[in-house]
Amino acid sequence: MTARDPVARHYGTAGIAERALAALRAANGPDAPVTPEALAPIDHFHGRGVVATEELARRLDPQPGEHLLDIGSGIGGPARWIAAHYRVRVTGVDLTPEFCDAARALNAACGLADRVTIIEGSALDLPVPDAAFDRAYSQNAIMNIADKPRFYREAFRALRPGGLLALSNVCAGSAGPPYFPVPWAATPATSFLATPQETRADLEAAGFAVVSFRDTSDELRPAQLRERERMEQSSAAPPLGIHLILGERIHEMRLNSVRSQIDDRTRTIEALVRKPG
Ligand SMILES: C[S@@+](CC[C@H](N)C(=O)[O-])C[C@H]1O[C@@H](n2cnc3c(N)ncnc32)[C@H](O)[C@@H]1O
Repeated sequence: MTARDPVARHYGTAGIAERALAALRAANGPDAPVTPEALAPIDHFHGRGVVATEELARRLDPQPGEHLLDIGSGIGGPARWIAAHYRVRVTGVDLTPEFCDAARALNAACGLADRVTIIEGSALDLPVPDAAFDRAYSQNAIMNIADKPRFYREAFRALRPGGLLALSNVCAGSAGPPYFPVPWAATPATSFLATPQETRADLEAAGFAVVSFRDTSDELRPAQLRERERMEQSSAAPPLGIHLILGERIHEMRLNSVRSQIDDRTRTIEALVRKPG
């Protein structure tokens, strides 16, 4: 038996799709349709949820019929949402077996199994052919990855010449490490943050041309201050939320994430880069 990857151990719990679908039925009624919109409060596992996915998709601007790659696809919320809204095919690659199982079950529940494919595997050795994708994206996955140059080289390899990669993720701030636990890591052992400057340099070293690169920390701060106040007053989970993936520990993790951002221990970036050709 091989040792379980510590990142997968952090994320993986049994029965995620069952919990999500049961919560959806309880909230919306037993016959309510299961759609990417209905699942959105649960299955976009990153700051600002489906709003951030919408913004990323607008930047990436997928065209009908294209094939997209989602690197670190989680339980598949962004992949289903983008496949449904842009009439594209999406292949998601993720390290955590329980997330891949949940993603496949929720793809089927949404009637999207023919357009969203999930492959269990590593972003550092993507189980996909060279130049197979028109566009790629990754949201809040690279914080678990120490070898960032290899992550970008693999994304570059998977894209066709001229293909675009959109990224949104958490970077290192200037005031020390984040307060742990955070949603992506319980301890520093599986958290690897690069600064925005290092991120841009790694992307360029992999061969990408930068189309846009933005540090969004300052513009998000007012909303984060409101969020911190709300979370410090109540730890009650809404009926539908990310706690259905990670359990009640998510409250402390998200509060630490917001505090880390406010205190400049982390920063957030959005990037769009192109493989020349
Ligand atoms: C915070 S979740 C984000 C999931 C998804 N991108 C979303 O926004 O809903 C981070 C994801 O990255 C995945 N991940 C971390 N390291 C990875 C690696 N080396 N290869 C593939 N996936 C990885 C985890 O399994 C997890 O699903």
